Amino acid sequence: MKEILIRKASKQDLLAIQRLLSTYFLDMEGLEAENFVLAEVDGQIRGCAALVNSRSHGKEFLEIHSIAAHPNFRGKGIGTRLVRYILAIIEESACDLYVRTTVPQFFEKLGFEKIENSEKLLLWEDCKECEHFEKCMQYAMKYSHSR
Ligand SMILES: CC(C)(COP(=O)(O)OP(=O)(O)OC[C@H]1O[C@@H](n2cnc3c(N)ncnc32)[C@H](O)[C@@H]1OP(=O)(O)O)[C@@H](O)C(=O)NCCC(=O)NCCS
Repeated sequence: MKEILIRKASKQDLLAIQRLLSTYFLDMEGLEAENFVLAEVDGQIRGCAALVNSRSHGKEFLEIHSIAAHPNFRGKGIGTRLVRYILAIIEESACDLYVRTTVPQFFEKLGFEKIENSEKLLLWEDCKECEHFEKCMQYAMKYSHSR
């Protein structure tokens, strides 16, 4: 596999991010390009992940959103590199890092642990209001390794 360059995104990357996410029927969920970190291979954007500041019940926390590797570039370490880059960015932060994901196995390998549904409800208003909550496919996870 050729070299993978990980970098922060800028406004100019907007279309490429949208194109990549649309492969998986994901959208930017109201995020800005600047929320994203990108993986580039041969000058082409082949992976992305967003870091978002959230707040609930007076608690501030960080979240990973919209992580994706291009279908032809999955299983080559791009997702891992993106998450590790985010972990390095937030190293000094006092806030906890969470993710809601359909791929818990991937995040477990990076030090995330599943949290209880009761905590999920405390963190996300949209979960509280969601009629599919009981059969939701998304696991809520918290980054738990010592920073
Ligand atoms: C999830 C995703 C971002 C992972 O990126 P990736 O570059 O393929 O992952 P990596 O190559 O870094 O894999 C790291 C490890 O996680 C595992 N893994 C990756 N995707 C997995 C999946 N879907 N299910 C189970 N394990 C997975 C890999 O097998 C690998 O394990 P290993 O270290 O034992 O070999 C990518 O597969 C993807 O874009 N999936 C589709 C979009 C999606 O589902 N996004 C998440 C929405 S919450």
